[in-house]
Amino acid sequence: MYDLIMKKRNGEELSEQEIRHMTQEYVAGNIPDYQMSAFLMSVYFKGMTDKETSVMTDAVARSGDMVDLSSIEGIKVDKHSTGGVGDKTTLIIAPIVAACGVKVAKMSGRGLGHTGGTVDKMEAIPGMRTSLTQEEFFEVVNKTGLSVIGQSGNITPADKKLYALRDVTATIDSIPLIAISIMSKKLAAGSDCILLDVKTGSGAFMKTIEDSIALAECMVAIGENSGRRTAALITDMDIPLGNNIGNSLEVIEAVATLKGNGPKDLTEVSLSLAGNMLYLAGKGELPACIEMAKEAIVSGKALENLIAMVEAQGGDSSVIKDSDKFEKAAFAYEVKAPRSGYITHMNTEACGIASMMLGAGRETKDSILDYAAGIILKHKVGEYIQEGDVIATLYASEEDLFKAAELKFIEAVTIAKQNVEKEPLIFARIEKDKVEKYI
Ligand code: URA
Repeated sequence: MYDLIMKKRNGEELSEQEIRHMTQEYVAGNIPDYQMSAFLMSVYFKGMTDKETSVMTDAVARSGDMVDLSSIEGIKVDKHSTGGVGDKTTLIIAPIVAACGVKVAKMSGRGLGHTGGTVDKMEAIPGMRTSLTQEEFFEVVNKTGLSVIGQSGNITPADKKLYALRDVTATIDSIPLIAISIMSKKLAAGSDCILLDVKTGSGAFMKTIEDSIALAECMVAIGENSGRRTAALITDMDIPLGNNIGNSLEVIEAVATLKGNGPKDLTEVSLSLAGNMLYLAGKGELPACIEMAKEAIVSGKALENLIAMVEAQGGDSSVIKDSDKFEKAAFAYEVKAPRSGYITHMNTEACGIASMMLGAGRETKDSILDYAAGIILKHKVGEYIQEGDVIATLYASEEDLFKAAELKFIEAVTIAKQNVEKEPLIFARIEKDKVEKYI
């Protein structure tokens, strides 16, 4: 390990054998954390070649179970979002893609801090099971075209160990290490095609478009080198996606979108993601695939698929058919605009934290969620508001949670005399050896 640290520290390329050996020995407990920390810090400063990144991703993926989806007929397509605030797209696009005849067998995560997680949103549906046996998981996909569950089994133990070490050694924000971490889990999850949604802006892990494109290029190269058709969209997370933040509030908005009544931004991003998933699965050219996705909403087929999955996973579909049946928060509180002007920015991380403070998110891994808590935005960036207008409604089960959350939320919103120019929701699209920029 000393030699490998030295090699990376000096900017040399490690061989495939060296990387595989190092990863296996680290998981086996034969390489101490202090040596792996030095290696990770060397990667942070010297980077990794495409070949090193691909080999290490494969080694990390193979450190645990590799899910074999071959008993599910047809092409399987996965999607990964790097996380954000109000991102309920999985609940919209998985049913759309399934309605178009492409299977989605997906493992999702839980939320932490300001970001939400799809598994938490699904568990806001009464009775919904997100922990299935592999047989049950396959059965639901074969029956309904889709299933979304929590990460199960022994998936990428090397990533768990490496991530925990990166977290305490200031090596999280290294593009090759992030790419290895994300893509190892995607490769282990077994789908044929992978669409990456790299979020950018104040609510995202990646704060600039340049960094997001670099991460996307790295992940697309890994996916393609591993024989999976892979593409990435760089999408806006400088503003919450849609209007609802919080678990059942986000399910309600996802369902409204599947009924054709969703907010414009959420609908546009969802159609683009779903279209790209269909494109990767070989359903046609991208514009035709986006049309196909639209049609799945108009025909009601996508909503039917969501209902079928909810029922197959033990959930109460009456809340999907009629959102009023969701349990409501005990208290609501209106946040009023402190002055007149245009909303020119919303610090999205702070919006997510305000929602967490209301009980909708986790401050620590063990926090208990209040599914009905959260925020509904009444105005967003670019809109003119008068002093005293309601900008957002906060929901919580205890009234005394409102004061601090309101302060956090107000701090997050910039109101100015001059409006800002509208930016696109999708900044770039990356395929193998191809970057299309829309800004
Ligand atoms: N998400 C991951 O899964 N891994 C990282 O390293 C960063 C974000």
